[in-house]
Amino acid sequence: MDKTYWIDYYKNNEPPKEPSLFAQVVLSYILKRRGNSPVTPSLLELGCGNGRDSIYFAQNGIDVTAIDQVDEICRLRNRFKSCKNLNFIREDFTDFPGYLSEKYDFIYSRFTLHSIREDEANTLLKNVHDNLKTGGELFIEARSVNDDIFGKGMPVKGERNAFIYNDHYRRFIDGDELVETLSRIGFNIIYTEESKNFAPYRNERPSVIRVEATIL
Ligand SMILES: C[S@@+](CC[C@H](N)C(=O)[O-])C[C@H]1O[C@@H](n2cnc3c(N)ncnc32)[C@H](O)[C@@H]1O
Repeated sequence: MDKTYWIDYYKNNEPPKEPSLFAQVVLSYILKRRGNSPVTPSLLELGCGNGRDSIYFAQNGIDVTAIDQVDEICRLRNRFKSCKNLNFIREDFTDFPGYLSEKYDFIYSRFTLHSIREDEANTLLKNVHDNLKTGGELFIEARSVNDDIFGKGMPVKGERNAFIYNDHYRRFIDGDELVETLSRIGFNIIYTEESKNFAPYRNERPSVIRVEATIL
């Protein structure tokens, strides 16, 4: 969904290149958890956009695989081809894990869960669960139903909490429902919080949910 929108967006705009606040929090958590272990942690990013968070994780010693559907991925792959711990894949992440064979220590999704349908999200989260190593963790940041732009634009027929606004699809996430879905799949919820301070962008303060969940 919205593939053309995102391809054009990354072709014609200059989105932020610095790591998101979420990536900064997640990285410090991963590094703390790693401690002095000589084992390099692996992380899969679902929907990396211009790669800003994946590049940041890789620059800080994590073995990163980053998926997105946009043309930008080809440019990033070329730019980072000598970087052994950063692998860009141009694919639909809802088809994951079809084209991947490893399991990961961490799977990271920032501002992407709200860009897919509920049925796709349910399948994806089950696949994420099955492709994390034991003790592995999932990190999600997504727009919530309490966001100021919830309800703006055209409701998507047959879907809940989904609207086309500013030319693209968003399915706003109900935090309680997400926690319930993750728990049903078998995740153990470590942390969840919602705030308008998590993802400031220009003059916008979207209401955003963060979730950290592990598998035992
Ligand atoms: C709002 S951007 C977020 C990008 C990045 N995570 C960040 O925080 O800067 C959403 C990204 O998800 C990607 N995306 C959405 N649905 C996708 C799908 N089914 N497969 C691959 N990429 C997808 C889009 O192409 C876009 O790059």
